[in-house]
Amino acid sequence: MLDIKVTRAETLKAKPDPSSLGFGRYFTDHMFIMDYDEGLGWHDARIVPFAPVPLSPAAMVFHYAQEIFEGLKAYRTPDGGVQLFRPDRNVARLNNTAKRLCVPEIDPDDALCAIKAIVKYDEDWVPSGEGTSLYIRPFIIATDPSLGVHPSETYKFIIILSPVGSYYSGGLDPVKIYVEKEYVRAVRGGTGMTKCGGNYAASLIGQKKAESLGCDQVLWLDGVHHKYVDEVGSMNVFFVIDGEVVTPALDDGNILPGVTRMSCIELLRSWGMKVTERKIEAEELFEAHARGVLDEAFGTGTAAVISPIGELCDEERVLKINGGEIGPVSQRLYDELTAIQWGKVSDTRGWTVKV
Ligand code: COI
Repeated sequence: MLDIKVTRAETLKAKPDPSSLGFGRYFTDHMFIMDYDEGLGWHDARIVPFAPVPLSPAAMVFHYAQEIFEGLKAYRTPDGGVQLFRPDRNVARLNNTAKRLCVPEIDPDDALCAIKAIVKYDEDWVPSGEGTSLYIRPFIIATDPSLGVHPSETYKFIIILSPVGSYYSGGLDPVKIYVEKEYVRAVRGGTGMTKCGGNYAASLIGQKKAESLGCDQVLWLDGVHHKYVDEVGSMNVFFVIDGEVVTPALDDGNILPGVTRMSCIELLRSWGMKVTERKIEAEELFEAHARGVLDEAFGTGTAAVISPIGELCDEERVLKINGGEIGPVSQRLYDELTAIQWGKVSDTRGWTVKV
């Protein structure tokens, strides 16, 4: 059991208006921090007031991006309690990312204990409005003041909390996706399957390009052939083609193994739907649309939950999917998943964890 010291903030902040939270704009009164030193391991777990973190300008995270993170949410349940959704999966993925980025792993029980402790401490910040939650952002940064390129010997594990509404300003409104054929997000042997800040920094140019072309998000293609679908924006992606659900397979290590992705696959299969994880050529989507069998497309992610895709575009073509409306599979997934997450139905799968 982690021994966590607590320093309470002298003044507590006013809570933001729950109807205009947006995503990641407000932060709670406290944060969790734990330090790592080579030879000593992780130590000095503490809850402290949310405040800037003093770091040397030479800290390695600033220069070589040795940084990893996670994203999960705490939900206010109808009985006034607070619960997490599959936090063990986020902790396992944090440690998988840590291995790839040469960051020291954290004992999974300690990481989970830290997440629960900081959420419990700032529990008043878990909003209760429709579609709102407390987004939890655990992250680890390399702190050695050193310009040599090697793994740092010191780190900080920090957890911050942010009350959020929808990730996209349009909520569940279908988004418009641009098929990106120039820039790539991940290459085989790279860091595509991890949650490291560098992946997101490298994706910004594609996102900017998509926005300049009137789209909301990028459909990333594989880095070798530039033809197989990887992910969309900061989400995993699914298509319903002729009644069958297909989603890119994880085998090549290019794709983030999303907790929402995994949960959607399990839900879809439990309804008796066929779900196939395989390579999907972008061209196959245009062909399926031409044959009238591209029934639906949607993204999945912790932040975005389920995001229906209403249009798919490239330089020459614009496809409207399901008439630009949310389809029945996306809607049912959204309804069933969010009912479990917000505790509106009983959790028969053991996915939720009370705080
Ligand atoms: C999430 O869905 O939790 C993410 O981390 C995606 C994005 C906000 C970076």
